[in-house]
Formats: sequence, structure tokens, C-alpha cells
Amino acid sequence: MINVAVLGYGTIGSGVVEVLQTNTEVIAKRAGEEVSVKYILDLRDFPGDVNEDKVVHDYGIIEKDEDIQIVVECMGGVEPAYTFVKKALLQGRGVATSNKELVAKYGAELIEIADEKNTNFLFEASVGGGIPILRPLISSLTADVVEKISGILNGTTNYMLTKMEEAGISFEEALKEAQEKGYAELHPEADVEGYDACRKIAILSSLAYGQQVDYEDIYTEGITKITAEDIRYAAAMGKSIKLLGSSMKKNGKYYAMVCPMLIDNSHPLSGVKDVFNAIFVHGNMVDDTMFYGKGAGKLPTASAVAADVVACVKHKGEHISILWDRTKLPLSDISDFERKYFVRMPVQTDWERIHEAFGQVEPVAVDGLDEKAFITGVMKEKDFNHAILRFECIINRIRLD
Ligand code: HSE
Repeated sequence: MINVAVLGYGTIGSGVVEVLQTNTEVIAKRAGEEVSVKYILDLRDFPGDVNEDKVVHDYGIIEKDEDIQIVVECMGGVEPAYTFVKKALLQGRGVATSNKELVAKYGAELIEIADEKNTNFLFEASVGGGIPILRPLISSLTADVVEKISGILNGTTNYMLTKMEEAGISFEEALKEAQEKGYAELHPEADVEGYDACRKIAILSSLAYGQQVDYEDIYTEGITKITAEDIRYAAAMGKSIKLLGSSMKKNGKYYAMVCPMLIDNSHPLSGVKDVFNAIFVHGNMVDDTMFYGKGAGKLPTASAVAADVVACVKHKGEHISILWDRTKLPLSDISDFERKYFVRMPVQTDWERIHEAFGQVEPVAVDGLDEKAFITGVMKEKDFNHAILRFECIINRIRLD
């Protein structure tokens, strides 16, 4: 019998307990041993809950109990999660977590400790909720050089952009709907400003390239400036607007960014709607792969955490090697990155001035929108920003993937 302590009895923590207690039999078969939840750590009490008697408020109880072999961390945030997880690993316990802040910041160090202690630090649920994406990167695509990762990594914003596209509603209305459905937080900055997606692409990139990618170094722009009119232009161009977390290796340089992008309707990520997530990975041998599923929500995310518990049981006393070196991967400035841009300007702007600044452009028109809108040729971001400075006013600009 393997005894587990679950830290945090919120949405994900309670989901993990539910998965472990509902699928006990199949989990025991696959793990090779029965898995039982012995403690639940939370500041709150849960009177009437079926697991009420397992709730403790002091991590010291879990730390001292030698029967605990696996710690599941679903508290979120860096502290005290980091302190508890580090203690557990130093005691040789396996750890499964859904906490992207913790993994993005301390992943390399915690993997190193797990290696030294012949145990495991696993974090499948920290990116893409229930989608198996980290394990394929760690264990399946091992013969490839990953050249590009591009993902819809935030369910809330994907839901909002889908609603804006399908119902023609504004950003504010879409946010209200997402909040009513319980997807967006009351203070939704982490989702709409791209911070959540930024941590996730930092984790994916660290694993794909094998070195620490600091999320602070990733250019991050959210969807707050995307309007219903932008969505109408996108439709007219046969494209969708998606908040993409991307990183790539190009001419020996690494780039990473989070921003809204215009993608062709023929692109596999364009069909990813509502709260679904998808991660597109291009390897130099395997070519294009895509991983799709529920990127958020109680049971999908809990399923990924519980699968990591199973892996911890199966690999007891044996470290699953994860290549994520602490040495920082130098990211190149995106101002050197080359791409096309979609630009909207007031109708009185002269086409001649536009051509002077951008060279040859491709005009875009939408019925009822009296503006000058166009797609530029391929340009470096710094040249684009320089060209834009020549104009007193632009309505919006969106990058093309
Ligand atoms: N707020 C996140 C999302 C939850 O909407 O995708 C999962 O990390």
C-alpha cells in the first residue's frame, strides 16, 4: 500500500482525491500497488466531506509520518509549495504537482534534488491540464531536435476569443461570460494578460531545449486590445486570432513569446475552440505533431496529477531522467524576428505614406469598417516598430504566425 498526502484541497486537490478514490482498482493494477490518500493538508476544515477525517492543518504531521511515500502538491503559488515540495524530495518521497508557478521557477532545481535522492518530481498537469504533453516531450520525442512549439495554452482566453468570433461580442462581454461560467477569475489578469500562458511556454521550452527558460525573459502580450472589429477582419482574411505561446529555434537562435496571432483557418490550431488547449510541436525528424484536450478543469487536470502518482509508484527508488539543466538558455530579442503584420489605420491615412513606410502591402477590407487595413510583407519586428512610429495613430496591429 502506498500512502499519499495531498497538499491543497481546492479544485485540483479535491479532484486528485476523487480520481484516486474513484479509479482505485485500475490505478492499483497499473501502479502495481494500492494507492491510498492518508492526509489532506489545507488551512480550512471540510465538515461533512467524506474525507473530513484526513484533513490536517500542519505540514509537520505529514513530514514526520514515515508511511507517506508520495506528496501531491496542488496549493498553487510559489510559497509554501516550494518549501514543502523540497522537504518531501529531500526525504526521498515522490512528488506530483499541478503548480505551474512552482515548476516554471524551480523545476530544474527540484528535478536535480529528485535525481540525487533517487525519486521523482513530476508535473504533467502544470501545462495543458489533462493533455499528455510533457511526457511525450520527455520520453517520446527523444530522437528529435525540437524546432518549434506553439500552443493554445490558456483555456479562458481561448473561450473568450471563440465567443468573440462566433457571437461577434466585445472583449468585455466575452470576459463577463467567461467569469459567469467560472473559467476566468474575478481578477483575470493572469489569463487575459498572458501571464499563465507565459509560465506554460517557459516550462515547455525548458523541456524541449533541455535548459532553463526564464519566464521573465519571454515577451508577453495578452488579448486585452483585441476587438470585435479585429475578429471581423480575421474572418475576412480566412484567419482566426489565437493567443499563442510559442518558442522556436531559428538560425541557431532561440525565441519565445506569448501574444495574439493571426493564424490561417487551415492551421490545425485554428480549429481549437472554447476552453480546449492544443500544443503543436515540430521536430526535425518527426515533423508536425499536435496534442489536444482539456487544458483546465477539475477532473482533466486531476487525471494528469494522478497519472504522475502512478508513475511515482511504478518508479519507486528509480529516477525518471528529465533533461532540464539549470543553465539559462539565452533567448534572442524578438525585435530580430521576421514575420508579417496585420495593421489597421484611420481611413484618412495616405496609401502613399503607408507604402513609403512598409513597402508593398496587401490591403484588407471589411464591409462597414471605414479604415485603411493591410498585411505587410515579411519584416523584422524592429523595422516594423520603426515604420509604425512614422504614423500619429494606428488602430491596432496583430502579428501573423
Ligand atoms: N486559468 C487557466 C486556463 C487554468 O484558463 O487555462 C489552467 O492553468
